[in-house]
Amino acid sequence: MTPAHKPAMNTPRLATGPTPAPLGQPLRLPSLRRLSWGAAACLAALVSVPARASDASAAPTVAAWTPASLRSTLADLPRGDPAAGQRVHEQLFCASCHGDKGVAPTQNWPHLAGQRAAYTAKMLLDYQDKRRLEGKRAELMHDIAVMMTPQHIADVAAFYAAQPAPQADGTPRPKPERQPNDVAAETLVRFGDKSRLITPCASCHGVAGQGGKLEASALAGQNPLYFVRTLLDYQSGVRHNDSVKGMRASAKKLSRSEIEALATYYADLPGNHSAVTSR
Ligand code: HEC
Ligand code: HEC
Repeated sequence: MTPAHKPAMNTPRLATGPTPAPLGQPLRLPSLRRLSWGAAACLAALVSVPARASDASAAPTVAAWTPASLRSTLADLPRGDPAAGQRVHEQLFCASCHGDKGVAPTQNWPHLAGQRAAYTAKMLLDYQDKRRLEGKRAELMHDIAVMMTPQHIADVAAFYAAQPAPQADGTPRPKPERQPNDVAAETLVRFGDKSRLITPCASCHGVAGQGGKLEASALAGQNPLYFVRTLLDYQSGVRHNDSVKGMRASAKKLSRSEIEALATYYADLPGNHSAVTSR
């Protein structure tokens, strides 16, 4: 494996961002100012910002993942501690957007509660390195993620994994206009669709939507509006951080109304992931 494929996880990769705030000490003023601006601007504007195609500045700063580089990078992360993760979540203002326990109060923003640690860690690394940069909201997460050390990342990931998946989050469900050829959500999840070579979602995301191997995310209880948006982003290719194009390929085969029905299916899955904390 070349060094380009294997970021040094023991040295914080913060060259592009401010120095991380040590836990237990107040954040330095510049980071605070930046974040409160971010939170305010977000609430005011981002909720209705349309996704835009990534421009030249959105180019990733590092090589694409290979399955091997991803596996070893995740394995090299320090061990996460949920209690320390809760402090990071509060002190770096994650709670202000993602809710006290990782259930986001804002429509369209992802819930983090019950998420698999490996997926959360991968996303934060992807935001840091601009592998994931599908729009304004992802740019905001980039600005936040560059302030995090590998230990912060491991700790918040452990904290979210230890929270129960969101249930009945109150987000309005999409109202799909079904197309004649649509396959029912539960069928797609459990059996896929052989005629379109669609692999069952459950084979990677687990039968209860609890997540699967390595970075396959938990989906149970996820905010359905975010779920639809991110699948459409994979479909159009603006979200392209999936390591082997698996999600882009899956999303391209689904109709919009199937995506909307899948979002409701997963949002309403009565998941209980409090036991799923391993990465
Ligand atoms: C100002 C609001 C805001 C703050 C503060 C914030 N986030 Fe986010 N976060 C978002 C939004 C909006 C998204 C969706 C971005 C996108 O569409 O790519 C997001 C996405 C994420 C994701 C990806 C979720 C998924 O399902 O793919 C993770 C993980 C995450 N945030 C963790 C954090 C952590 C950890 C912190 C604190 C260090 C934090 N966020 C602070 C708004 C925020
Ligand atoms: C071959 C394995 C595989 C299959 C099959 C699969 N997924 Fe995924 N999915 C993944 C992986 C891995 C990721 C994380 C990708 C990344 O790093 O961005 C993911 C990410 C996602 C996300 C984004 C989660 C988030 O919080 O942003 C959604 C939504 C999703 N998948 C839905 C589905 C649906 C619906 C199906 C079935 C139609 C499906 N997936 C089938 C492996 C799979």
